[in-house]
Amino acid sequence: MDVLERIERTRNDARESLGNVRDDRALEEWRIEFLGRKSETLTLLRSLGELDPDLRRKAGQAANALKGELEAAYGEKQAQLAEAKIRDASTLGRIDVTLPPRPLPSGRRHPVSQTQRDIIEAFVAQGYSVIEGPEVELDYYNFEALRIPKDHPARELMDTFYVEGGDRGESKVLLRTHTSPNQIRFMEKNKPPIRIVCPGRTYRNEATDPTHEWMIQQIEVLAVDEGLTLAHLKGTLFEFAKRIFGQERKIRFRCDFFRFVEPGVDMAIDCFLCGGSGCRTCKKEGWIEILGAGMVHPEILKNMGYDPDVYTGFAAGLGVERIDMLRRGVDDIRHYYENDLRFLRQF
Ligand code: DAH
Repeated sequence: MDVLERIERTRNDARESLGNVRDDRALEEWRIEFLGRKSETLTLLRSLGELDPDLRRKAGQAANALKGELEAAYGEKQAQLAEAKIRDASTLGRIDVTLPPRPLPSGRRHPVSQTQRDIIEAFVAQGYSVIEGPEVELDYYNFEALRIPKDHPARELMDTFYVEGGDRGESKVLLRTHTSPNQIRFMEKNKPPIRIVCPGRTYRNEATDPTHEWMIQQIEVLAVDEGLTLAHLKGTLFEFAKRIFGQERKIRFRCDFFRFVEPGVDMAIDCFLCGGSGCRTCKKEGWIEILGAGMVHPEILKNMGYDPDVYTGFAAGLGVERIDMLRRGVDDIRHYYENDLRFLRQF
């Protein structure tokens, strides 16, 4: 191969190779290969002296032209790469839609609030309206009007927080121990037919354990109409239980006693933990009580100005935390208000 052909081949090789250069490192490698001390280009130039004068002139021009051309191409490529780098840098501030999203922490309703809503919905679907009443209550509504007079032993079942210096005449002021006072408050101001639910916080000064807290959420249910019977009460509560727990759960319905109803009942659901055989959470009972209920005492109807021979009513008081425990398998009521995010984030 003569020298002019070698020059031409070097030119082609160098051009082709430069086309594949994508970054500074590859460019430096290219420079060493085609313009470095040991490169073909420089070797060619160094060997010109051995040629015939005629060919030397021609080859000299061609080799110098090649060197100039490659140096210019090198400079051009260097500028291109630098420009690309600036372009990349300026896109840094923009949104790269191909990146995976960073998880955003999102809030949600407290489990007890979720269940409270679901329970209310189960009654609203049966025609009930939602009302609310005060958490700081008069002794009259919390006890007296519900047939729990002063010094009656039934009061001892509800360890009451009294508001110091809050007495209003005859009536002491207290934190309501249940949502039942709202039965009275509503009946005082309304005429049958009545169908209401009243959710809210209630307070009892008692020792806590897996199923007891000093503050719990209750939902009071009250229906007054002509011809209501225990069968209506049962049907309404079973419908609620079916919606919240599904068809499979076992329900226990028993007689119980509350001063403001006659007859009184309570409802329990089979323990989710032991399935009924007895454990720490259900206190070896196999059942967890979720509500008290009964037919509104005729004396109360009379006191409200309703004729007990015409109107009858039923009432129930539901414990929201216990219902949530049964639904989700929470083994201790005290978890709810410790505000431990590791617990709350599960729901
Ligand atoms: N208020 C009662 C309690 O907290 C529960 C209760 C029982 C409510 C019977 C009612 C009822 O409406 O009819 O222990």
